[in-house]
Amino acid sequence: MTRGKFITLEGGEGVGKTTNLTFIQKYLQQHNISVVVTREPGGTPLAEKLRQLLLADDSETISEHAELLMIFAARAQHIKHVIEPALAKGQWVLCDRFTDATFAYQGGGRNMCISTIEWLEKMVQGHLKPDLTVLLDAPVEIGMQRAKARATFDRFESEKIIFFEQVRRAYLLQADLHPNRIKLIKANQPLVDVQCGLIEIISAFLR
Ligand code: TMP
Repeated sequence: MTRGKFITLEGGEGVGKTTNLTFIQKYLQQHNISVVVTREPGGTPLAEKLRQLLLADDSETISEHAELLMIFAARAQHIKHVIEPALAKGQWVLCDRFTDATFAYQGGGRNMCISTIEWLEKMVQGHLKPDLTVLLDAPVEIGMQRAKARATFDRFESEKIIFFEQVRRAYLLQADLHPNRIKLIKANQPLVDVQCGLIEIISAFLR
């Protein structure tokens, strides 16, 4: 059985991840690829509970270390119960965010130590890395305008603009560090152009 491929979609707030995730899913299915669509933090019952705790804007502030460990705890469950079994069965996995988000939000946004994140990545993932990552990039103001159109803000969305500038910079740095894996698309162009870019990237990957 050929192992499946692991594709992740990344980007800051309001860059259109949800719409484009569905687009990629349909494109893969049209090519007769069996694909499991999932998300982080989340993807298993326990990881979804951790997601709720992470996103809730409660009275007790979550320390940066607690946040980082909860994200990797959710990831460990997700890998063991969803991602690895699917890949082993030959299914493809399409995941809304993965560890590049940790380098961007916790590393960039929260300024946490990169080698600590790398250490946790190694511990939790072993050799598992995405085969392909699509990074949707847009200036922070544009993404935030789109995100504001939603009813309420979660704990991350309530952060200040500077936080999202740091997140964006860290994502772009990840793309520079891993040019073979991470493909960048400008998300502040018409949706049809974003999706043409997606087709180019995914069809090149399929070849
Ligand atoms: P979502 O908005 O894509 O559903 O993701 C939920 C939030 O979780 C988003 O604001 C980014 C944040 N997040 C991190 O801070 N670190 C991570 O590693 C992941 C996967 C998400």
